[in-house]
Amino acid sequence: MTQDEMKKAAANKALEFIEENTIVGVGSGSTVNFFIDALASLKDSITGAVSSSEESTKRLKAHGIEVFDLNSVAVLDIYVDGADEITQDMAMIKGGGAALTREKIVAAVAKKFICIADNSKKVSVLGKFPLPIEVIPMARSYVARELVKLGGDPVYRQGVITDNGNVILDIYNLDIIDPKALETQINAIVGVVTNGLFALRGADILLLSSAKGVEVIQ
Ligand code: 5RP
Repeated sequence: MTQDEMKKAAANKALEFIEENTIVGVGSGSTVNFFIDALASLKDSITGAVSSSEESTKRLKAHGIEVFDLNSVAVLDIYVDGADEITQDMAMIKGGGAALTREKIVAAVAKKFICIADNSKKVSVLGKFPLPIEVIPMARSYVARELVKLGGDPVYRQGVITDNGNVILDIYNLDIIDPKALETQINAIVGVVTNGLFALRGADILLLSSAKGVEVIQ
């Protein structure tokens, strides 16, 4: 089974959690693209979607799925998104696709976060994947210096501007033993918009795909 086939299997499994006449929170990335394509089969039974990126919005609309502004949505039952890494405790690193801020906002609103991933994303300790941090452009060097003090090696993601007009620093070589504490600590650095640790609000359900099938972990 290829990695794409595993991503697709996890994405298809997420359809089982979608209820009629609801608005679905939709993340970003290649695994989510499979989910959006699968969600199209339910487009006449759902009310629509809230999207976490311009790219996902475009794909949802191309399938004829209505995309609502989050501000107009009072209740969001579920949010489906991928991850760059996820632990047993459901803490994640996200933001490989630079959509972390909107993803974190939609995840905060949703009652249930369903993470869809192939088994390469499951790790015992977060941090092998460089931690993405969205930063206000003028604070880039300052934030990078602060992250060096925390033991990381920041690299400016050249040529990438987020949907919110900001830049991304990728932090290498962090051994993330306490993801909640580090998430809080990085949030406190002035100029940081969002960091890619999703630990304070982790996933509720993980649909983890392997050659053997899709495991539901909660
Ligand atoms: C985008 C994300 C994605 O969920 C994460 O990068 C996983 O992407 P993929 O499904 O392509 O492996 O956080 O900001």
